[in-house]
Amino acid sequence: MDNRPIGVMDSGLGGLSVVRVIQQKLPNEEVIFVGDQGHFPYGTKDQAEVRQLALSIGAFLLKHDVKMMVVACNTATAAAIDFLRANYAALPIVGMEPAVKPACQNTRSGVVGVLATERSLEGDLFHRTAARYGHDVTIIAEPGRGFVELVENDLEQTPEADRAVAAAMAGMLARGADQIVLGCTHYPFLIGAIRRAAAGRGVTIIDPAPAVARRTAQLLDARGLRAEAGHRPEYGFLTFADAAYGERLRRKAFACDVA
Ligand code: DGL
Repeated sequence: MDNRPIGVMDSGLGGLSVVRVIQQKLPNEEVIFVGDQGHFPYGTKDQAEVRQLALSIGAFLLKHDVKMMVVACNTATAAAIDFLRANYAALPIVGMEPAVKPACQNTRSGVVGVLATERSLEGDLFHRTAARYGHDVTIIAEPGRGFVELVENDLEQTPEADRAVAAAMAGMLARGADQIVLGCTHYPFLIGAIRRAAAGRGVTIIDPAPAVARRTAQLLDARGLRAEAGHRPEYGFLTFADAAYGERLRRKAFACDVA
């Protein structure tokens, strides 16, 4: 048994879509979430820079005595997960999976859409996963241009969000995608616009957060790191931006309107 917190990181508030599922599935676990924001966005930065940013958040979380890290950012996972594991070898580290596997297994049309940041779509992780599971499937990947900025600015429920989402999804929908993977943790906050864009087409939207929470639970069990059954957890929301942003993270975490 170990009541120390799980450290969760993202470039901003997208990772809260993962924190929310961890809270539901692992209700005794403490969480310290770092939403960087000071260096946002990660999705257009090069790999070396994202690695250094992820490493600094890792060091910051270690100072808070975390027992495990969850990289709740597809971009940082793609750019830095091996690097983080090499640097923090004693710590279990869970990353985001692009969820291409379940999408390819479940498609009936043979066409799968993937929405993610430019950096994630260029990365080896996405290419390896697509090559592994996508032999008989057409995978259409599209960066969600402007999506993370919409979410960071609380503009999810606006005509502007509907336009950006419809534009990104138009090509994959026209080609018959019936599974759409949310490959960035900010995107579940746009679920309303995503559902509107896909309405009436029998499309399944896949958010990898539940799979990440399951993997977190498995690792806690494997390492004997679960919190005690009766433990009442605290949640910390930290940032490299200002205190007002930290407060926003807390509010958004508990008012999560996501997939
Ligand atoms: N939330 C992050 C992800 O899952 C990236 C957002 C950003 O571009 O900073 O990829």
